[in-house]
Amino acid sequence: MKGIILAGGAGSRLFPMTRSVSKQLIPVYDKPLIYYSLSTLIYTGVKDILCISTSNDQNAFKKLLGNGEQFGVKINYEIQNKPNGIAEAFLIAENFIKNSKCVLILGDNIFYGLENTAKLSKTTFIKGARIFSCEVEDPSRYGVINFNKNKITSIIEKPHKPTSNLAVTGLYFYDDKVTKIVKKLTPSKRRELEITDVNNKYISLNLIDNVIMNNNVVWLDAGTPSSLLQASQFVQTIQDRQNKIICSPEEASLIMKNYSLKDFNKVLKSYPNNDYSNYLRKISKK
Ligand code: G1P
Repeated sequence: MKGIILAGGAGSRLFPMTRSVSKQLIPVYDKPLIYYSLSTLIYTGVKDILCISTSNDQNAFKKLLGNGEQFGVKINYEIQNKPNGIAEAFLIAENFIKNSKCVLILGDNIFYGLENTAKLSKTTFIKGARIFSCEVEDPSRYGVINFNKNKITSIIEKPHKPTSNLAVTGLYFYDDKVTKIVKKLTPSKRRELEITDVNNKYISLNLIDNVIMNNNVVWLDAGTPSSLLQASQFVQTIQDRQNKIICSPEEASLIMKNYSLKDFNKVLKSYPNNDYSNYLRKISKK
């Protein structure tokens, strides 16, 4: 199974913060936003990852993430120059995915506690699509699930009158049919290839698994100034209170046994002395 992080987009809701820096590179408390999605992706068990960004931002992502060695994974890069929609990621990634299954995560989504959910593991995913949904107060900002009794009938992208409070998060698992499905899509009214249309196709084939996140999982998006600040405050509060660092890709990889202790210590040697690296040093001794 392959992993994709979509870190494109203009970040217009965060302008002027995003004038010279990509949204996914902006810090959420003590680490860049993309670290959070990268750690979730590592917890799925994928080791081969494609980072998709605009060409302007690609060098900055390369500087931050390199070839992935420091995170115990392999990171490749591709470009999405125009915001043609989330589903375009599968066209850009066609050569990378080949005939594998894949997991896509949006680089501005933050999941806390999801690693304890069995359905996050790639080993539990066989075919079709798997989405992760979460109850929210303001569903009309998201893709929203329509139900008939307990069965999903469709997902509506940013509905004016949502019929449920269940929003689709930015984490998606697909089988090897996804690229074929995307190739048949037509752009929506906002001229994007919609991930919601991909999911609706899988729903019509009766091949979707909707994982509703329980109360032990927190899902945040950091796409607006206010949600970005809230996310930072959330991370700071949990970390200070529990004396740990959350959503570290290095810790995720250590737990997933992606690198040996020797390799991990080598990585740590290259880090400056600060709270982040001291935390990693501490857990490596456990
Ligand atoms: C996208 C998807 C939407 C999903 C959301 C999750 O919206 O189109 O279905 O609920 O991500 O973050 P966007 O953030 O691009 O507006």
